[in-house]
Formats: sequence, C-alpha cells, structure tokens
Amino acid sequence: MTDPRRLLIASQNPGKAREIAALLKGLPVQVRSLADFPGVVLPEETGETFAANAALKAATVSRATGEWALADDSGLVVPALEGAPGLHSARVAETDEGRIAWLLERMADRPAPEREAYFVCVVVLTDPEGKVRGTWEGRVEGRILEAPRGAGGFGYDPVFFYESAGRSFAEMTREEKAAVSHRGQALRQFRAALSARAFPQLLEAQGA
Ligand code: IMP
Repeated sequence: MTDPRRLLIASQNPGKAREIAALLKGLPVQVRSLADFPGVVLPEETGETFAANAALKAATVSRATGEWALADDSGLVVPALEGAPGLHSARVAETDEGRIAWLLERMADRPAPEREAYFVCVVVLTDPEGKVRGTWEGRVEGRILEAPRGAGGFGYDPVFFYESAGRSFAEMTREEKAAVSHRGQALRQFRAALSARAFPQLLEAQGA
C-alpha cells in the first residue's frame, strides 16, 4: 500500500526544488518531485500576484496527477525599479547570468537607498482536486550589489547582499540562507501548519 501522505513539489526549477526538499526534511510526508511525473507541464504564469501564480502551478499539478501538491512562486522586488523584476523575475532573460546582467544594467550608478530590494516567496498547497488548502508567504530584505559575489544558491543570489550576515546569498551556505530566506520563512510556516496536525489529517484523507 502506498503512503497516503505524499506531497509533490510543483517546480521545474532544480535550485528551488532542492531548497524546498531540504526545508521539508523530517516531515511525516513523502516528498516527491516532478522528475517522477515527466508528462506534467506547468502552466504559463499568467496570474497578477505571486499567490495567484503559485496556486495556478499547484492546482495544475494536482489535477494532472491526483496528488497533493506544493508550489511556490517567488521573485525579487526592487522598489526603485517600480517593483521590477517582481513577477517577471524568471523571465527577464534566459539564464541566471542574463538575469543578473539585466538587473545590474538597471542598477548602474544608483545610490544606496535605491539599491534596497526584497525577495518574496508564496507557497500554496492544493489537494488532489486542485483546491487551495493553504497559502504562506515569506519575505527577506537586502540590497543589490554592484557586482556578483559568491557561487552558491541560484538566480539573483550573487547580487543580493544580506546585511546582517555581511555576505551575498550566494556566499552563504544552503542552511544559512534557508534560516533567513523568503522561501525558508514560507516553508517554516507550512511546516508549523503540518506540525499543528491540521494538514496530516487532510493528507491522510487522500488515502481514505
Ligand atoms: P518562479 O517562482 O519560478 O516564477 O521564479 C522566480 C525567479 O525569481 C527565479 O527564477 C529567480 O530568478 C528569482 N528567485 C526566486 N527566489 C530566489 C532566490 O532564493 N534566490 C535567487 N533568485 C530567486
């Protein structure tokens, strides 16, 4: 008999999927990735908020697989750029190098107050019918560097300076980043909801 408490991570970004799986370690659920479901295609992110896009991804994956799914939508917000790259963080260029170049070009010669930025992450859980069962949000403040620093993490990490560590996210270990990151915060809230036993019951219902 299969364990009814399965959870599918609805992400095709290997950097994100790795961080999410690490943050869910030790939970009483079997975490699986889309690598086990090669036929599933994620929808275009047409929502107008991070929450709407996360719900769209999770619901699509749940409906396609009949599994509980957890999706995150995240991005970097630079208020001095009117919130860009924001919802389009993944789409401003094809590669991480391209995305960083896109950002640094727009940040060139900007004074310190205009270099303030934050990462947002919204995590959504859907049931096998695709109904949203929970939404959690995390946010972390930092500053955009003038040049990339460090080789860890993914995405904009090399240019995101986290003041209290005195390092960029790419210069921090995965554990150090997770302890403060937007994704870490959102997933810790999700973990707390599970620990409060609200969700194991829901997840168990799947096997009934
Ligand atoms: P999406 O959530 O898959 O739509 O993409 C979010 C995009 O925002 C990623 O492709 C990255 O470019 C960026 N991003 C989100 N979270 C992080 C992070 O933790 N570090 C660096 N970049 C991130």
